[in-house]
Amino acid sequence: MSERICLITGATSGIGTVTAREMANAGGGGGRGGRQGARGGGRRDELRNRCNTQAIDILECDLASLDSVRKAAESYLADWPRLDVLINNAGIMPRGFQRSVDGFELTFATNHLGPFLLTNLLLPLLEQSAPARIVNVASRAHQRGVLDLEGVIDDGSRHNDMRSYSRSKLANVMFTLALARRLKNPEVTCNCLHPGVVATNIIPRGSWMGVAGKLLRPFMLSEDRGSESSLYLALSDAVAGSSGGYYDEHKKLRAPSALARELDAQERLWTKSAQWVAL
Ligand SMILES: NC(=O)c1ccc[n+]([C@@H]2O[C@H](COP(=O)([O-])OP(=O)(O)OC[C@H]3O[C@@H](n4cnc5c(N)ncnc54)[C@H](OP(=O)(O)O)[C@@H]3O)[C@@H](O)[C@H]2O)c1
Repeated sequence: MSERICLITGATSGIGTVTAREMANAGGGGGRGGRQGARGGGRRDELRNRCNTQAIDILECDLASLDSVRKAAESYLADWPRLDVLINNAGIMPRGFQRSVDGFELTFATNHLGPFLLTNLLLPLLEQSAPARIVNVASRAHQRGVLDLEGVIDDGSRHNDMRSYSRSKLANVMFTLALARRLKNPEVTCNCLHPGVVATNIIPRGSWMGVAGKLLRPFMLSEDRGSESSLYLALSDAVAGSSGGYYDEHKKLRAPSALARELDAQERLWTKSAQWVAL
């Protein structure tokens, strides 16, 4: 990985922090997506110290804002000569119905629309930097997901936290498969994964899920263990040239849900997403 550059979203916490640390240890300089400047800066210095490397930097980006994503992509393209690995790791599971600044349901905006736009804007540079890899951190929760695109823009009266999260993770898997189909250069690959059930900050506090999450924490995977499949897809020779796959927490290739594999549904998601982000 020496002299290769990796961009990891959501590196300020959880699975993303460990992924950034290990990518830096593997020799990749790291641009890292974080959304809070001050916190990001502090974390950058902390991570640089912990990894004993200066090869880690911060790119400010709020994935819930299309304007912020465009600015981050512009800034990346202006400052960095290449992009070898893009890991779309950031994700949220908020409580209650919320809208993004652009008017979309917040979980879908953050977990799917932001990464969809970021990836597409950086794709020409990934292609120029080939061999290059795109890794999307999805979830087994996609299996319960329904592609209710109307619910992304309606009044939120039918909103359910878990359904929204599952829909956004279904979109991660569908986006991976649809993008893999579009990639013409076999040296640019795109895969997604379920990291396992990992003890991180993602479970909202104060909800029944928060209480259950606290009780079950001792049985969850560590953040180190939870980053293994991301690192495998980003680094391993075993998956060089493999694309369009969904891997589990044991790095095993698995079939995603039947709905995730439906070409028509994938294309419907792609067309609508491209329209919503004005690609
Ligand atoms: N933990 C699990 O059991 C589990 C299971 C399956 C899948 N996953 C997936 O794994 C990925 C990583 O989650 P995690 O468990 O490590 O959660 P986490 O500890 O909460 O970390 C989430 C990261 O995403 C960032 N983020 C949130 N909203 C953002 C935004 N609008 N713009 C930019 N960055 C944003 C956070 O930044 P801030 O610090 O600024 O909030 C944080 O760095 C997610 O995609 C999640 O869906 C997790």
